Amino acid sequence: MDRVTLTRPDDWHVHLRDGASLASVVGHSAAWSGRILAMPNLKPPVTTVAMAQAYHARIRAALPEGASCTPLLSLYLTEETSVEEVWAAHQAGWVVAFKYYPMGATTHSEAGVRHLARCQPVLQAMAECGLPLQVHGEVTDPGVDVFAREARFIERELAPLLERLPELRVVFEHITTAEAVAFVRQAGAGVGATITPQHLLYNRNALFQGGIRPHYYCLPVLKKERHRQVLLEAVAEGHPRFFLGTDSAPHGRSTKEAACGCAGIYSAPLALPLYAEAFESVQALAKLEGFASHYGADFYRVPRNKDQITLVRHPWTVPDSYPYGDSVVVPLRAGERMEWQIESDTISQGS
Ligand code: NCD
Ligand code: ZN
Repeated sequence: MDRVTLTRPDDWHVHLRDGASLASVVGHSAAWSGRILAMPNLKPPVTTVAMAQAYHARIRAALPEGASCTPLLSLYLTEETSVEEVWAAHQAGWVVAFKYYPMGATTHSEAGVRHLARCQPVLQAMAECGLPLQVHGEVTDPGVDVFAREARFIERELAPLLERLPELRVVFEHITTAEAVAFVRQAGAGVGATITPQHLLYNRNALFQGGIRPHYYCLPVLKKERHRQVLLEAVAEGHPRFFLGTDSAPHGRSTKEAACGCAGIYSAPLALPLYAEAFESVQALAKLEGFASHYGADFYRVPRNKDQITLVRHPWTVPDSYPYGDSVVVPLRAGERMEWQIESDTISQGS
C-alpha cells in the first residue's frame, strides 16, 4: 500500500506555547489536524476560563490564513481551582478538559497539584458535567525510579481516584507502559488514553545511541522495548480507547542541548507520517484512521471530522531544525529519513 486516505485526524494533546513560539509551531499542527487540544502549562499556567479565552484568541490569531483547524483548550488544575470554574469551563464549549499535573512532574508543573484529595469537590463537578480529567500519570516521589513512575502512579493515585469517583472521565495521557495499557483495558468506557509517536517508535535505547541524545528526552521518558511492544499491540488491535495525542512539546535548541536539558519532543510537523510508520511496522495501517481520527472525537463527544487527508509513501528527509521564535527547535528524526508524507506537502514542495 502506497497511499492511505483517512478522515482528518485530531491531536488531543499538543503544546503550542505562546507569543513568537506559538506563531512558529501552530501551523505545523494545523496542517493535518482538525482539532488541536492545546495544553495549559504556560507561564503563568492557564487556570481560568478568562485566561483560556485570551489564549484561545491568541492561538486563533496565530493560525495560518485559511487554516480550518479548531483549537480547543484544557484548563490547568490547581488546588485552588473552584467548582464555579468547572461549570464555567463546561459552558464555554471549547474548554474540553482539565489537566492534572502532579506538582513537579514535568515542564511548568510547579503550580500543579500536591494532594489530589484537596480537589475532590472540583473533580466531582467535572464528573457531573462530563468534563474529562487529563492526567499526567507519573508519581513525583524522588525515591521512585524514573522508569517506574507511571506504574506507581496507577497504584497510588489513578486506581484510588477512580474508586472514589468512578463516574469521572479520565484520559491517561501519553502512556508508556504495559501497566498503563492493562489499566485502560480493564477500565470502563470513561477511561481513555493518548499515545505519542515517540513511544510507539522508540525504546529507551534511543536516549543513549552513541552518546546522550537530548532530543529523544521527554516525560514520561521512553521505556523498555517490551513496553513499546504492548503499546503497539493495543493500537494494532484497534482498541477504541487508545487515541492520538502527539504531546509535541517544542523547546528552543539551547534549552535541550544543555547540562540540564528540558523534557519535550517536537513532532508536530511529522507526527502523522510517524504514526503511519508505527502502524505499518505491525501491519496495521488499516487501524490508523480509528486511532487518529475517530476514537478521540468519540471519547470527547464531538463529531468526527468530515474532510479527509491522504498520506503517500514518498521518502523525504526531516529538516535539521525549524524556526522557533528567535531560536530554532530540533524535531524528532532531525536529518533522518521518513517514509510517509502528507500528500499536500509533496504538492506544495513541488516534488
Ligand atoms: C511537556 C512540555 O514540554 O511542556 N514535556 C514533555 O516532555 N512531555 C510537558 C508534558 O506534557 O509533560
Ligand atoms: Zn504534554
